Amino acid sequence: MSELKKYLDDCAQAVEKTLDEILPKESDYPQTIHKIMRYSTFAGGKRIRPALVMAANEACGQTFANKNVCLAGAAIEMLHTFSLIHDDLPCMDDDDLRRGRPTAHKVFGEGVAVLGGDALAIFAYEVLSRIGDIKIVEEISRALGTGGMIGGQIIDIESEGKKVDLQTVEYIHKGKTAALLRSSIVIGALIAKADDKKIAALSEYGNAVGLAFQVVDDILDLTSTAEQLGKKPGSDLQNQKATYPSIVGLEKSKEYAKELTQRAKNAIVSFGEKAKTLNEIADYLESRIN
Ligand code: IPE
Ligand code: IPE
Ligand code: MG
Ligand code: MG
Ligand code: MG
Repeated sequence: MSELKKYLDDCAQAVEKTLDEILPKESDYPQTIHKIMRYSTFAGGKRIRPALVMAANEACGQTFANKNVCLAGAAIEMLHTFSLIHDDLPCMDDDDLRRGRPTAHKVFGEGVAVLGGDALAIFAYEVLSRIGDIKIVEEISRALGTGGMIGGQIIDIESEGKKVDLQTVEYIHKGKTAALLRSSIVIGALIAKADDKKIAALSEYGNAVGLAFQVVDDILDLTSTAEQLGKKPGSDLQNQKATYPSIVGLEKSKEYAKELTQRAKNAIVSFGEKAKTLNEIADYLESRIN
C-alpha cells in the first residue's frame, strides 16, 4: 500500500469512528430520520474533505487525527453528504445512484430525503460548535452560503441547457465544490491556530485543488463507469450541464486540472517538508479514477 493510500485510509477510519460515535442511533426515535442520516453518511465515499482538514492541521504542526480535527472532519463530511442528498433529488440532478447505492430519495422518498439532508446539515453545526471557535463556524457558513456552495449550485441549475462562457463555469465550480474543499483546509489550519500567512497560503492551495477536483469530476462523468464511480456517468450530458469539457473539450480540461494542481503545490512551498502530504493529495486528486 502506498504511503498516501494508508494516510487516506487512516483519515477515513478516524472520521468514520467519530461519525459513528456522534450520529444518533438508528433505533433512536424518530427512527426514519436517523436511518437516512446513517444510510447516506456510511455509504462509502472517499472522505477527502476530512483528510484535507487533517493534512492541513498537521502541516500547521498539530498531531494526526486529534479530537478537534476529527469533530471538524465529521461535521464537514456530514455537510458534504447533505449536499449530495439534495444534489441528487429529482428537482436537482435527478440521480438514482450515489456511492454505489440507490440514492436516499429512491430508498426513503423525496420528503424524507430533503429532511435527511437538512438534519445532517443542522447536526453538523452542533458538532462544529463543540470545538468552541466561532471563526470556524463563520468560515464554513461562508463556504456553504450564497457566495459559495449555494451560489454555485444555483448558477449550475440556471445554466442547464444554456450555452455559458468559461467564466460562468468557473464561478459554478468554485462555488459548488472548491469552496468546501478550501474551507476544509482552512479549518484544519484554524484548529492549529495557524497565523494569517499560513492560512492565506493554504487557502490558495485549497482554491486550486478544489477547482481541479470539480474539473476532474466533470471529466470522470464522461470517461468512467458506474462501477468505478459509484454514481451514474453521463448525468451531466443528460442534464445539459455547464462543465469544463462541454466548453473546452476533454484534453484541455485535463491540461487545466494539471495546471491547477501545480498551482496548488506552488502555493505551499513555504511549508517545506510539512507540505508533503498536501502535495501528494493534490497529485492524487488530479489522477483519481473515482
Ligand atoms: C462528489 O464529491 C460531489 C462533488 C463535489 C464533485 P466526492 O467525489 O468527494 O464524493 P464522495 O464523498 O467520494 O462520494
Ligand atoms: C455537485 O456537483 C456539487 C455539490 C453536491 C454541491 P455535481 O452535481 O457535479 O456532483 P455529482 O457528479 O453529482 O457527484
Ligand atoms: Mg449537481
Ligand atoms: Mg450531481
Ligand atoms: Mg459531477
